[in-house]
Amino acid sequence: MKNLQELFEHELKDLYSAEKQLVEALPKMHDAATHKELKKSFADHLEQTKGHRDKVKSILDDLGVNPGSTKCDGMEGLIKEGEAVIKEDAPSNVKDAALISAAQRVEHYEMAGYGTASEYARVLGHEKHAKTLESILAEETKSDRHLNGLALKEINKSAM
Ligand SMILES: [Fe+2]
Ligand SMILES: [Fe+2]
Repeated sequence: MKNLQELFEHELKDLYSAEKQLVEALPKMHDAATHKELKKSFADHLEQTKGHRDKVKSILDDLGVNPGSTKCDGMEGLIKEGEAVIKEDAPSNVKDAALISAAQRVEHYEMAGYGTASEYARVLGHEKHAKTLESILAEETKSDRHLNGLALKEINKSAM
């Protein structure tokens, strides 16, 4: 990498890999959850995540960048932690609380990635891409807040 444009492209490849991995992982989190609203939240975010994957891919295509085999190691680690939660022998309400914790880590990781990438896009003059990345960031943020609400409203107390 020799300039911000190349760093931007690298970030996009990384985000594309992260979203692809998450599309595989969210159905498992959905199946492991018991709380109805939490299940729905995972199902809804799966659909959004497919959209994120496709939007990032279209930005890469527009820039003429092949994502190649770039792998997001951060998301791989977060998903590994999520899988450990799924395998944990715990009452369903405790598992739901743990799933929220794992899922919020994922959302925060994505929020950091899209926050950075959208700023790079803006300073590089890719206004249209900046707007797309900001719209994804808004969905990640909303998903994080929703998970937080579920935890605070009910699930954490029920896990006590
Ligand atoms: Fe996403
Ligand atoms: Fe997300």
